[in-house]
Amino acid sequence: MGYIRWGVAGSFLIAAWGLGLTGVSIASGNYGGRSDNSVEAELYREECGACHLAYPARMLPVDSWTEIMATLEDHFDENAEVSDETATMINAYLTDKAGKPGRGMLKRVKQDIPLRITELPYFVHEHDDVPVRLVRGNDEVGSFSNCNACHQRAENGDFDEDSVRIPGYGRWDD
Ligand code: HEC
Ligand code: HEC
Repeated sequence: MGYIRWGVAGSFLIAAWGLGLTGVSIASGNYGGRSDNSVEAELYREECGACHLAYPARMLPVDSWTEIMATLEDHFDENAEVSDETATMINAYLTDKAGKPGRGMLKRVKQDIPLRITELPYFVHEHDDVPVRLVRGNDEVGSFSNCNACHQRAENGDFDEDSVRIPGYGRWDD
């Protein structure tokens, strides 16, 4: 009950933000989310959100998405293959919205083609205070790749540290 009420209040808040403040997407921790309702974006969220969060396209550069989309049959020890038609559409979406090296999540990127967000220097820097027992040692999290286990609003592109709740630990206060 309490949870549902919060959910509703949260949606209103997001709606109010969207209406009141254009340009809020540059706020810290905001990486865009469900606002894109194109067929390509929906397809991306459906196919690539089946096993983990459909990560914000902006978190990896063009070359990374191209490489990931070209190797889906061997995707982090899983087979994540989709039809050629679907792959073409998702690839178009991801490469269009991809991040610019040197900015945001892609600050100080050294590898040419990083394949993991969780290994980016900025990511590692932001998470180095989070103890392993709360991640790999936590059945409800398992891996840093599981962003939405802790970032309660990740599906809306909101990664602000204020909305982090780590399962079995609670609100993050550093
Ligand atoms: C069948 C399940 C499955 C599907 C479908 C899937 N993935 Fe994955 N993906 C994985 C697994 C497993 C990992 C590794 C997670 C871990 O290390 O905990 C992963 C990791 C990733 C990562 C790196 C995450 C990190 O650690 O930074 C990216 C990026 C990614 N996937 C993109 C995609 C894209 C794009 C699609 C859609 C075309 C997709 N995935 C579909 C299973 C899947
Ligand atoms: C185990 C919980 C956990 C997981 C899983 C996790 N994070 Fe975080 N994240 C945190 C915490 C805690 C912070 C705040 C760290 C601090 O400031 O000390 C944070 C901070 C961040 C920030 C900086 C936010 C700000 O306000 O500046 C970003 C961006 C972020 N995480 C993205 C991600 C992404 C993307 C993923 C998945 C690929 C992810 N996180 C997975 C716990 C997590």
